[in-house]
Amino acid sequence: MEVARRMRSIPPYLFADLDRKRAALRAKGVDVISLGIGDPDLPTPPHIIDALAEAARNPTTHTYPPYEGTVELRRAVAAWYGRRFGVTLDPEREVLVLIGSKEGLAHVAWVFLDPEDLALVSDPGYPVYDVAVRMAGGKPHPVPLERGRGWLPDLHAIPEDAARRAKVLFLNYPNNPTAATADLDFFNDVVAFARRHRVLVVHDNTYSEIAYDGYRPPSFLEAPGAKEVGIEFHSLSKTYCMTGWRLGFVVGNAAAVQALATLKTNIDSGQFTAIQAAGVAALNGPQDVVRERVATWEQRRNMAVAGLRAAGLDVPLPRATFYLWVPVPAGFDSASFADHLLEQAGVVVTPGLGYGERGRNYVRLSLTAPDARVKEAIERIRDRLGVAAPPAR
Ligand SMILES: Cc1ncc(COP(=O)(O)O)c(C=O)c1O
Repeated sequence: MEVARRMRSIPPYLFADLDRKRAALRAKGVDVISLGIGDPDLPTPPHIIDALAEAARNPTTHTYPPYEGTVELRRAVAAWYGRRFGVTLDPEREVLVLIGSKEGLAHVAWVFLDPEDLALVSDPGYPVYDVAVRMAGGKPHPVPLERGRGWLPDLHAIPEDAARRAKVLFLNYPNNPTAATADLDFFNDVVAFARRHRVLVVHDNTYSEIAYDGYRPPSFLEAPGAKEVGIEFHSLSKTYCMTGWRLGFVVGNAAAVQALATLKTNIDSGQFTAIQAAGVAALNGPQDVVRERVATWEQRRNMAVAGLRAAGLDVPLPRATFYLWVPVPAGFDSASFADHLLEQAGVVVTPGLGYGERGRNYVRLSLTAPDARVKEAIERIRDRLGVAAPPAR
């Protein structure tokens, strides 16, 4: 059996490899703490589970769901965007329900890229954009992110030829893996860039609700003119601790949303209607459940950053996401440091190289394990790492 050529350019999914390493150590009896994958340990709020249970008992939810998502969920999404961002959306034409945002982000490349078309993809970045572009026959053009620029791309530095050939620009703020955030000024520049080069902006706003110190990340669609040039992906996974439920949505430019809907009607049949009913309960229901969960991550962030700094690591304090993007100490690269932490401390972290070449000297820690486990992981790193304190900044 021979797989197709396009499959050969695809590395094994980052977390599959980590899972294997973790399982092998556990099999040897090592107490491994995983700060690898960004999968919240906190449970889905009970009123959302109740909504699922009630809807699942109703036989009308047992048939194929409407392709574009239920009217109720699309209306709830539009209302939530209005309340949260002050952005007006037409639930009929500007909202599409997804089987998790990863699904839509992967398929969007098929809709907008012809063979050899370029897509501008941040390096480092969430790996799905790059892989989806390759699978669709397009070419990812890496756009470097650097710490000195707050991990925001320098749009003016994108070569004219690449900007001209590009059809899609993928962006993601609050950002995975760097935890960087973007403000509206940046999004205004993105709109101008997209207009000038006729590029579709695909903004992934999965982490908009996971923010600290009173900070409220904006939507790309708040930038004037954004709806003419872009779409925004969202997910219930992180906000409501629903990663296993597989529910997300895309909003924005009606033509782009409808084009993605056309592809999806041909290859999937939507998410279980009862899960969509639970999504309505999540978006329309009390939001203090989100604030409580974010408060937990904020405390973990404070504790972990303090502990890692005490261990001599030069860790910035992120104001969003539950990730820490940590520069590796001298003498290591991302893979050797991740292996070192696994072997010496029994702690799984993600090597930054998995997010692109520019992640080569970083590892990502996800604070999505229970408090006591995060605390223990940080203590083990502090006790067993033995690196020198970084120079004062
Ligand atoms: C930046 C980013 N986008 C999208 C996703 C996928 O989320 P979902 O569970 O909605 O597919 C993730 C998950 O980690 C992510 O980090």
